[in-house]
Amino acid sequence: MKKGIFITFEGADGCGKTTQIELIKKYLDENNIENVLTREPGGSDLGLELRKILLHYDKPVSNIAELFLYLADRAQHTEYTIKPLLDEKKVVLCDRYIDSTVAYQGYARKGDINKIIKLNDLVTNSLKPDLTIVFDIDSNVAQSRLKGEKDRLEKEGLEFHKALRQGYLELAKNNPERIKVINADDAIENIHKKCIELIKGFIN
Ligand code: TYD
Repeated sequence: MKKGIFITFEGADGCGKTTQIELIKKYLDENNIENVLTREPGGSDLGLELRKILLHYDKPVSNIAELFLYLADRAQHTEYTIKPLLDEKKVVLCDRYIDSTVAYQGYARKGDINKIIKLNDLVTNSLKPDLTIVFDIDSNVAQSRLKGEKDRLEKEGLEFHKALRQGYLELAKNNPERIKVINADDAIENIHKKCIELIKGFIN
């Protein structure tokens, strides 16, 4: 490996992403492949503070304020966490990254997609993942899987989540080299096998 490998995971709340990322991490650990798992929002010290606001602030937040809070989290995370790990030739597994902002603040919140893509470029200094896996699932099924108290974004209705899903599918269509879609309405083991097939192409 000349530099590290950057893999990101995307999908609607309730798509089973967390379970799959943990299984992938276990696979890499068992195969002695040095890796670090991180996430957005909240993959840096500053990001942890921003995460509290983003998920639990209970007064109105303007769409633009929300967008820039996610971008601030990403700027800090990219510079102080992701880039140094890639320089150390690690495999970096990141739970959500640039595509979440395009899908949530762009497609679902009806923000300006092209501007958001440019802002993502600005805050990441154009750092793109080598591979992005989108866990695709019917919005009703995803919603019914959510347990416990819902955060600010999870409280959004079905229409929001349907637009979000379409957003991810569109992103995948526009970036076929980088973004791969996996049907997340399947047995955990089947989904895991598909993820490993995709990842193997990068780590071997
Ligand atoms: P989190 O608890 O990490 O959810 P999940 O386990 O589903 O990843 O909460 C992150 C929430 O923030 C999630 O609802 C998606 C949302 N989000 C955005 O709206 N825009 C973004 O750029 C990012 C990174 C996340």
